[in-house]
Amino acid sequence: MHIPSALQAFLYKNYPHYQGLQLVKKGDNLFQADLYRFHNEKGEYLVKSYHRWTCFAWLSRHLIRRELHFYSCFQGYSFMLPLLCKSKDSLAFVVPWVHHTPIKRLCSEECAGVFFRARKVISTIHARKITHGDIRLKNFLYNGEHLYLIDWVTSVDWNRSLLRKMPAPLKRMFYRTDWYRLEKMFSKLLPRQVDFHPPWWYYPGAFFRKNIYRWFKKD
Ligand SMILES: Nc1ncnc2c1ncn2[C@@H]1O[C@H](COP(=O)(O)OP(=O)(O)O)[C@@H](O)[C@H]1O
Ligand SMILES: [Mg+2]
Repeated sequence: MHIPSALQAFLYKNYPHYQGLQLVKKGDNLFQADLYRFHNEKGEYLVKSYHRWTCFAWLSRHLIRRELHFYSCFQGYSFMLPLLCKSKDSLAFVVPWVHHTPIKRLCSEECAGVFFRARKVISTIHARKITHGDIRLKNFLYNGEHLYLIDWVTSVDWNRSLLRKMPAPLKRMFYRTDWYRLEKMFSKLLPRQVDFHPPWWYYPGAFFRKNIYRWFKKD
């Protein structure tokens, strides 16, 4: 496994006794980071790093800064992972590793509890005029106690001056899409409890995500 030297230097500086560094997920394109897991005497961690794309570092920095903006908005909230460390070059950050159970494997009672909590999480972020934009089961980590929402790269902060002036129907579409995606996921897991009846405009977006965006991500 090749580990970029800048990432090694970052970890060595901040976690001098780190061990067992392993790749969890390799980013397939410019927009995806590499995820690594490691541990030291105090605990287990996940580092999200864009250190591989040297000539596109400006873009990676932009993505990490975007994500860290949302981390800072919600630090201290029970659904947000504590941000432990970020690299000076803004190409990597560290959060605790969460020993989670995939939501699909939970029993229906537990799943209903997670759905209820996920609704609360979305209400909370929407109340701050922030939309997540990538609500999917894999972006919720549930460890039996906490429910964390991760992967804030596609989130939008509607408080930003440029976005504040966007037409209201466009904003509403982003807010509602978070809800529809949540309902769609859980309507499969809890068919008796969750109805999924989105409006017509949900379907072009779903088609885009399923076909065009997925194809683009693989490239
Ligand atoms: N802190 C964490 N603890 C445990 N697993 C994690 C953590 N962060 C991410 N993962 C795992 O890595 C996967 C991808 O992480 P994510 O941040 O969503 O990156 P991507 O942008 O590639 O989707 C998650 O679905 C989850 O399984
Ligand atoms: Mg993700």
